[in-house]
Amino acid sequence: MIKVIERLADGIDILSMKSEQIEVVVSNYGCTIMKVYMQDKHGHIDDVVLGYDDFTCYQTLDAYLGALVGRIANRIGKGQFCLNGKEYHLAINNGPNHLHGGIKGFSYQIFDYQIVDEKTIVFHYLSKDGEEGYPGDLDFKAIYHLEGDTLTIRYLATTSQDTIINITNHSYFNLSGKQENIYHHLLTVQADQFACIDGDGLPTGEIRAVKDTPFDFRTPALIGERVEKQDEQLLLGKGFDHPFLFTAKENQVVLEHQQTGRRLTVSTTLPGAQIYTANYLDGRMGKYGQHYFERDAVCIETQNLPDAIHLEKNPTTILKKGETYDETTSYKFEVIKG
Ligand code: BGC
Repeated sequence: MIKVIERLADGIDILSMKSEQIEVVVSNYGCTIMKVYMQDKHGHIDDVVLGYDDFTCYQTLDAYLGALVGRIANRIGKGQFCLNGKEYHLAINNGPNHLHGGIKGFSYQIFDYQIVDEKTIVFHYLSKDGEEGYPGDLDFKAIYHLEGDTLTIRYLATTSQDTIINITNHSYFNLSGKQENIYHHLLTVQADQFACIDGDGLPTGEIRAVKDTPFDFRTPALIGERVEKQDEQLLLGKGFDHPFLFTAKENQVVLEHQQTGRRLTVSTTLPGAQIYTANYLDGRMGKYGQHYFERDAVCIETQNLPDAIHLEKNPTTILKKGETYDETTSYKFEVIKG
């Protein structure tokens, strides 16, 4: 069942999507996932994502809690790129680089939307040619569908002119219901390689094997046993803040909190994910009067390789006029009883 639970100023709505198992609270502001309520193995319900009680924080702060990120998630080196022989300049909003679509990317836009059936919301936004420096009118849709314990998000876009696109969702998961940080979360990532980053979080172009590194999550490992290791890449990122390159075609990432029996399985059509251990949360006030610090959550940001426009021979982030960007990521929130 879907209903509008609050109407704020400027056409910003907050909606609840409910199934028998879970409830997801979303806003048409940045298509933001504000809450995900789920049971634990004893039937106790908690909210398993970070967010704010004060809505203006979504509009003014920059951690992208729960937000849809675009047009380009993650960084573009120096905020510059060349497409079809033309140079484009984007906002430099993260050290020397462009991050998460710029100053007023998709996370800060109000989408129009339609509740198309009792399980589905279609969010829509027309991003004008030149918005945040990107070329082409981009006609964009995000379809949120809740079925049982699974939230599926499908992203669709067409453009009036060749452009670049790399959309993700930036939810911060903490399956304990933020009773503790994520040290006791077990993580599995079906990736045998990850992309190295520099001190500004930008991929360097070096793709490294996970074997014999703290990045090897091909079998489940506790995040707490890995994240503080004295590894050059972890030190550069202040924790995990790296693109993982998937080997599997589905169920690529599993996050589990054994104490509560909660398990999140992420499945995507995209080739990788930025795994980020909330390294830059700075004690800000979040929901339920809680302060948020580094390691309080983990983001699983499915996407093409960050900075693909500079690093890949045939950049996967180019969307040509006449083509359709069509990617899907699903989040299965399961309770493992017993
Ligand atoms: C980036 C981080 C950044 C965070 C919040 C993540 O996707 O990789 O470096 O601090 O988003 O903006």
